[in-house]
Amino acid sequence: MFSGAGGLDLGLINAGHEIIWANDIDKDSCETYKLNIGNHIVCKDISDIDINEIPDCEVIVGGFPCQGFSMANMLRTADDERNILYKQFYRIIKGKKPKYFIAENVKGILSLDNGNAIKKIINDFSNAGYRVKYQSFNTADYGVPQTRVRVIIAGSRIDLKEEMNFRFPQPTHSKKNWISISNALSGIPEPDNVKTLLKNHIYSKYKITSRNFTGHRKTDPNKPSPTILARGNGGGGVCAIQHPKNHRRMSVRESALIQTFPIDYEFVGSMGSMYRQVGNAVPVKFGQLIGQELKELEMTLL
Ligand SMILES: C[S@@+](CC[C@H](N)C(=O)[O-])C[C@H]1O[C@@H](n2cnc3c(N)ncnc32)[C@H](O)[C@@H]1O
Repeated sequence: MFSGAGGLDLGLINAGHEIIWANDIDKDSCETYKLNIGNHIVCKDISDIDINEIPDCEVIVGGFPCQGFSMANMLRTADDERNILYKQFYRIIKGKKPKYFIAENVKGILSLDNGNAIKKIINDFSNAGYRVKYQSFNTADYGVPQTRVRVIIAGSRIDLKEEMNFRFPQPTHSKKNWISISNALSGIPEPDNVKTLLKNHIYSKYKITSRNFTGHRKTDPNKPSPTILARGNGGGGVCAIQHPKNHRRMSVRESALIQTFPIDYEFVGSMGSMYRQVGNAVPVKFGQLIGQELKELEMTLL
């Protein structure tokens, strides 16, 4: 669910899983997904999807956008409920009852509504028959050249043995061997100078700044990239992170490399749409580590 351009799905595929169904409302994301992953993505509002349209499966993954998630909104009428995407995620997990569910979210979910949002999520899924846990991760600790902090909420169905509970991946990199942004982009030609064969190597001309504000800071070439953003240049567009030489913003291709997409993964849509798809994604490498944990559980069963 909420598959976007397919960052998490590609990670799972790389770990050896088969994705049998996917969904997103955004046309460009679906086109990107089809081009790189497969035609099994259904492009429509999740609220319009009947539970019977979704094939039976062992795992459901998805990062539900948490806009609209507040206790006040939770108490609103049925009509408004359609917009609360958490409720859609819950409806589908409850209806399909997969062995595991994995939900990715921004770290803000932990403080949302004074912590009541995460309490409600744990409570809802426990009542729906899952052992639920959550943890916050800095993807730089997992070999991604980016200090992206995200929360993973994972549920293991209650009828599974305790030893079959989903286990979070262990860090693969400590702070002293984090991968720097300049290392990740080494060998990438300047988009303007070279007649480059790289796809999506176009960049925002949004001004370079040096302020202490997300998306407006100088980029330290010796550190991992700050979080690749999906919005926020003040004009309705996406605020691309500054290139490690700080002479321009990173191109869509460079941002995708920082998100650990393969160099030939092609995005579809306007430049703003492509930046958004990249910024929305779960880093492929991190998705793969989640997938490997699921794979180990599958092996235990054999
Ligand atoms: C954070 S992104 C998920 C990115 C994805 N996990 C990845 O790794 O590339 C959330 C996605 O939810 C989608 N979305 C938002 N509202 C939706 C709705 N009502 N129905 C289906 N998808 C929706 C957005 O288009 C967006 O692609």
